[in-house]
Amino acid sequence: MADLTIDVAFVLLLLGLGAAYFVFASFAFGAGYEPTPRRAVEQMLRFAEVGPADTVFDLGAGTGAIVFRAVRTYRARAVGVEVEPIRVAILRLRRRVGPLADRISIRWGDFFHLDYRSATVVTAFLWPGAMARLRPKLESELPAGARVVSHCHPVPGWTPTSYDRATDVYLYRWPEAGRPPSPPARPMGGT
Ligand SMILES: C[S@@+](CC[C@H](N)C(=O)[O-])C[C@H]1O[C@@H](n2cnc3c(N)ncnc32)[C@H](O)[C@@H]1O
Repeated sequence: MADLTIDVAFVLLLLGLGAAYFVFASFAFGAGYEPTPRRAVEQMLRFAEVGPADTVFDLGAGTGAIVFRAVRTYRARAVGVEVEPIRVAILRLRRRVGPLADRISIRWGDFFHLDYRSATVVTAFLWPGAMARLRPKLESELPAGARVVSHCHPVPGWTPTSYDRATDVYLYRWPEAGRPPSPPARPMGGT
């Protein structure tokens, strides 16, 4: 009986360590794992007006909540970048078993080393420090007309075009986002 208890405790410990690894291993890179809520995914893709002409870069693709929705519902192309290898394997498996695989690219790597020049839409659900580090890279590489949508955390210093409080989603249009907000219009002085 004592042996069985030890075995069960050992298995539980391993499962706990596995789950902790899955969620926390990528902390050092810019965010842990948490799938983007379904309502936020819909809001992000609608805000960015994603369509068949778009290439959506999802930064930290997780297990694919945004990538597969963008391709299979909105008919976009998508590039999912993910640093954690188990999630990359899940993404590749999902790509292989579902439709429109040729419109999906899964890259195992660090989004701080990505080339953003072919992105028309960038989606992110990351931590504030990662958003701040990404900003200069986005500014130097994003093509004019690109949209950036972020769940939970803004791009520091940028001016959002829209913000949806219900889903906590920010929409930015580049290069307008990098310009300071226009001052409120002054009432016309009359005599
Ligand atoms: C909050 S989850 C985002 C979930 C995902 N976008 C979705 O649609 O559900 C953040 C993800 O970013 C990944 N990540 C963190 N830093 C990264 C980096 N520097 N490069 C690539 N992926 C990273 C994490 O491994 C994690 O899977």
